[in-house]
Amino acid sequence: MLSADLLQTAAERFGTPLYVYDSAELDAALARVQTAFAGARIFYAMKANPNLHLLRRLAAAGVGFECVSPGELARAEHLGVPGGRLLVNGPAKSDGEYAAGARLGATFIVDRAEEVGLLPPGSRALVRVNPALAISTHDHLATGSKASKFGVTLEQAPAVLDALRAAGHEALGLHVHIGSAIRDAHDFTAAFERLAELRAATGNVQVLDVGGGWGLDADLHGIAHEARAAAERFGAELWVEPGRYLVANAGTLLTRVVGTKRTGRNFCLVDAGMTELIRPMMYGAAHPVTPLWEGDQTDVWDIAGPACESGDLLARDVTLPTPERGGLLAIAEAGAYGAAMSSNYLSRSRPAEVLWDGRDWQVIRRCEAPQHIWQAEL
Ligand code: LLP
Repeated sequence: MLSADLLQTAAERFGTPLYVYDSAELDAALARVQTAFAGARIFYAMKANPNLHLLRRLAAAGVGFECVSPGELARAEHLGVPGGRLLVNGPAKSDGEYAAGARLGATFIVDRAEEVGLLPPGSRALVRVNPALAISTHDHLATGSKASKFGVTLEQAPAVLDALRAAGHEALGLHVHIGSAIRDAHDFTAAFERLAELRAATGNVQVLDVGGGWGLDADLHGIAHEARAAAERFGAELWVEPGRYLVANAGTLLTRVVGTKRTGRNFCLVDAGMTELIRPMMYGAAHPVTPLWEGDQTDVWDIAGPACESGDLLARDVTLPTPERGGLLAIAEAGAYGAAMSSNYLSRSRPAEVLWDGRDWQVIRRCEAPQHIWQAEL
């Protein structure tokens, strides 16, 4: 994380709540992935953080993008990303997404057999397989479990590959993404083992895309080793789709203390909440919280936001020196699915985003004004 001095300066200059990013950390995360997965093609899962400035930086480093909405495809098109570096994914793609993918020359990830007939003629495609395993993450983040809506079954996959070929598409190979924020790296090994059962039916394929989902403290080299072995079993080129791992540590949410109250619990009330960072409320995610003030007296506090919802908590049971109005809190690991999932609920303006490039701050997204939020209603 950036130094406390830098964070203080940013908060004074741009106001709070504020998303701050460290370009060095983004570059370092990419370098770690490039080293561990040397030889693999990297498609950044744009949903984690679609800010154009971050995308541009990744694109310049040769990274491609996995897109799951018309808006994400529009971002890639705006940046002029070549089709060979684009994946069009999603369980319920719209006609517009098929058309945009075809126009851009992207590769489609087929999520169900019916899609074979919906793809534009002569499409390049991967078939997403759901290995139906227990995945060590929050239920909402498990995509490779039997109950999840994603992918085709192992039994269905060979027939979908055949159907793609019969329909004149280019069946590149297989795709497996078992979930996000996965705690136990063995889940990947188990998924790759299940996939290997397909080899007899599918024969070799050109591409094996193993998705993303790596937890922040994951053994990247271990996962890469298993992924490479899995690809080799199919004689395939390895593709990966990291989201969180690339951007989470680069981002910090800065929020100021508005006040405190001691009722049933100790509440430290701050100017950011569920509208800026919904992950604690939605997945029970624990983001590290660092106070940028000092004091001898410490106590245990819940960090509560300004929304009129009891669940609007950024963290529970955090030990802090006594908070005072105006004190700054840094919420770490917020670069992934932070700003990306922020909302205008309560007509709250989404916060500014600024990037530290080693020398200065660059505003990479202006803070919205209330008029921006209601503009489309006029
Ligand atoms: N590939 C596919 C097909 C995906 O669906 C995802 C994420 C990724 C790659 C990237 O996964 P990552 O490396 O970021 O774990 N909003 C949730 C995360 C949802 C992830 C959805 N799919 C959160 O805040 O934790």
